[in-house]
Amino acid sequence: MSKKVSRRTFAKVAGAAALASAVNPSALGDTGAHGSSTTRPQGNGAAQGDSLRAFPPGFLWGTATASYQVEGAVKEDGRGPSIWDTFSHTPGKTVNNATGDVADDHYHRYKEDVQLMKSLGVKGYRFSIAWPRVFPNGDGPANPKGLDFYNRLVDELLANGIQPYATLYHWDLPQSLQDRFGGWEGRETSKAFADYAGYVTARLTDRVKHIFTINEFGAFIEVGYRWGIHAPGLKLTGLRLNQTRHHAVLGHGLAVQAIRAAAKPGTKVGLAENITVAAPVFETPAHVAAAERATREMNAQYLTVIQEGKYTDWYLKSAGADAPKFTDADLKAISSPLDFVGINIYTPQFVRAADTEPGFAHVPHPPSFPHAPSPWLFVGPEALYWGPRHVSKLWGVKEIYITENGCSSSDVPAQDGKVYDTDRVTYLRSYLTQLRRATAEGVPVRGYFLWSLMDNFEWADGYTNRFGLHYVDYDTQKRTPKLSADFYREVIARNAVV
Ligand code: FCB
Repeated sequence: MSKKVSRRTFAKVAGAAALASAVNPSALGDTGAHGSSTTRPQGNGAAQGDSLRAFPPGFLWGTATASYQVEGAVKEDGRGPSIWDTFSHTPGKTVNNATGDVADDHYHRYKEDVQLMKSLGVKGYRFSIAWPRVFPNGDGPANPKGLDFYNRLVDELLANGIQPYATLYHWDLPQSLQDRFGGWEGRETSKAFADYAGYVTARLTDRVKHIFTINEFGAFIEVGYRWGIHAPGLKLTGLRLNQTRHHAVLGHGLAVQAIRAAAKPGTKVGLAENITVAAPVFETPAHVAAAERATREMNAQYLTVIQEGKYTDWYLKSAGADAPKFTDADLKAISSPLDFVGINIYTPQFVRAADTEPGFAHVPHPPSFPHAPSPWLFVGPEALYWGPRHVSKLWGVKEIYITENGCSSSDVPAQDGKVYDTDRVTYLRSYLTQLRRATAEGVPVRGYFLWSLMDNFEWADGYTNRFGLHYVDYDTQKRTPKLSADFYREVIARNAVV
């Protein structure tokens, strides 16, 4: 398995747990209330024939980006350095030694970018706040000029009828916290994160009604602290690794408490996790039950402990002496109730039923399995059905957002200047069809944020893997809508797969 492939197919500890697992879609929610879309009136502009493809009325369509991937302006207005500045400036760490120094220059072009969103018709924008803009050292004195950028952005979004959905941590940890505490290896970082979360919440929630604490525990810890492929480039193992994972979920939980304490009324809080989605190799009751067990175990260190307030027996048993050290108070904080759960979904992990512990077995992708140019991104649309369904069934979550979904493509402008990304359109159409299957069964998915609004800095892959609905010419910063932008505009207008 190449390192790139391993980016999302982390060898998470897998195991069994007794779990009721009958296949019964009606158990997932009130299908009467959400109804089958075949019997519902259609959303704006729905054409005849769309009924079998329609999403629930009021479904939120959005796009997503993240601070270090789009903003640039890394030294402006008092921003401190992040671990991604350090990492990307270390030769050999990113493809072509790319950095986020300029990226999409969104810091200066955000007004233009809001117009791109408006032209798509999105009603939500998921962006992240760069912690080192707000606290250049991670803790200590705040830098109000840094937060001002987000004030300007939020005002511009609202003036254009787009709701802001803010993520507090999308991987750009202040370098100073890495230097002083080993980043997430240190409990001090969890605490500093909560303080930062409270500070931002007090200043933005008069206008920002949805806050995500952390983006993808299962990526920044595994890829950054375990595989060394992302910042800070560490290769931890054993207890040190498990303790680092624990500090990440603890930081989330402490932040939830700080957000609750500081938020204006009406603020909702959640997270955005790239859960490992176990998809049954095919849909027999036994394989479906195995997939539910597998999803719970493969997410034991992250979403499962957050939802259940305890680590699974199988995880603790497998970790043995390397199990993280924690207190009951930690678990209580980690499992602070959430208003919604965001899940980032790109690809499934296939499993089948097995008689022996842990009650399921992984079924690896053969080399010929279709994938996007990003080698980890196996095309498995059913992930967008099983992901939310598992979250609803396993933990009774009532409000789910798909906080990221999309694909890279080898986009090249044609002679007429347009990018005909039919592969992305096909990917999106088949994934959205599976998502629609979930909503039609009553799985409470409230919205979908497509990754990404525009091409951007794709971490260690630099600028090579483009995920945008808009093509970005990095020499001129010109944005050009791709065919997929036209597709998404139609989806949104009809509130249906097209
Ligand atoms: C997700 C990240 C996001 C982007 C997409 C392609 O894991 O959250 O920043 O890199 O993958």
